[in-house]
Amino acid sequence: MTIRQGGGGVRSGNWVVDLAEAEAFLRQYHQETGRGDLLYPRLAEVRRQLDETGTYRHTPEELAFGARVAWRNSARCIGRLYWQSLQVRDRRDVTDAAEVAAECVAHLRTATNGGRIRPVITVFGPDDAAGPPVLIWNEQLVRYAGHLRFEGGYTGDPHGFGLAELAARLGWQPPGGPFDVLPLVIETREQGLRVFEIPGEDVLEVPLVHPALDWFADLGLRWYAVPAISHMRLRIGGLSYPAAPFNGWYMGTEIGVRNLCDTDRYDILPEVGRRLGLDTSSDRTLWRDQALVEVNRAVLHSFDHAGVTISDHHTESERFLKHLAREELAGRSCPADWSWIVPPMSGALTAVFHRYYDDSRPRPDFHLDEAARLRAEGISPRPDPRLGTRPPARRCPVSHG
Ligand code: ARG
Repeated sequence: MTIRQGGGGVRSGNWVVDLAEAEAFLRQYHQETGRGDLLYPRLAEVRRQLDETGTYRHTPEELAFGARVAWRNSARCIGRLYWQSLQVRDRRDVTDAAEVAAECVAHLRTATNGGRIRPVITVFGPDDAAGPPVLIWNEQLVRYAGHLRFEGGYTGDPHGFGLAELAARLGWQPPGGPFDVLPLVIETREQGLRVFEIPGEDVLEVPLVHPALDWFADLGLRWYAVPAISHMRLRIGGLSYPAAPFNGWYMGTEIGVRNLCDTDRYDILPEVGRRLGLDTSSDRTLWRDQALVEVNRAVLHSFDHAGVTISDHHTESERFLKHLAREELAGRSCPADWSWIVPPMSGALTAVFHRYYDDSRPRPDFHLDEAARLRAEGISPRPDPRLGTRPPARRCPVSHG
């Protein structure tokens, strides 16, 4: 039996559930969870819902399974060994902006767990004929704002320029420091765009210190504990959930290599190199490479010291190979993107460097669309009169000194 499009009832406006995808997902769900006998009644039920309403509703079990498999299918994620442990918060019926914000904060609390970080996803309602019921504009639930300075240069995280400016136009008053936690920018159908500050006590942050270099603390660096991606769509069985923030825990290099040392981010290597007394006159002295190791030692040490879960790239590489072996045993191939899986420092020191991966991209999955990418930069994909006519700020237009 297959799900067929009956009586034209499936189409609604220009929106349609992908029937083949719905059916493939339901087959996968029933097969992997050992519920084969229930597949055909469920297919019939879903076909009835599609005929009557143009869409269908996942059971809570299907939703949880779909979210976990979307993680399992995340080709860029090295941390998938624990995909089955993902805690799924089903909040599909929450549509009020303030309640959405409160659920995001509750997500952070559950995920933070006093420092013993738990992988969590909170799922709000799927697209329907009228589009997304809820959108979270932020790229992550917790991110730092960036501020351009009058005199040139910037303070904070250049990834947070656009959203900081948008939030300010919507009434947020940025403190103007290097680590201002951005407010949540939430769009709902009835209420449009709203801004909500996250209470300080719900954002766990770790001050960065070095195990051997006392001056490192004077740099005044810190990072937040929970990386919770909030602008990607969760796609399950032909339905698309546009607001489904999810988190794991950090791997040290994400902070210590990319966030702190990328030249278009916090760009701290020149300062660290100077403080280490390295010869910074030429790249060939490898002063950057040497300084990079110290920054990453500081990140891992600080999280450990603060009792906050973080993994290192050696451990995570081993775990990923274990995951690959387990997937193979289960008769599945594991999609992976080498350029994302290999850590951004000491690549060839980790076993994940020395092999190739499956380049298929199965669903359920997490997906980033262009509109979401723009929103995360504070740019409306469609004109919004309440935002005024001034074009929003783009990424760092100045050189930084
Ligand atoms: N790389 C991103 C960051 O540094 C976070 C991406 C998700 N990371 C994770 N460990 N789950 O903020």
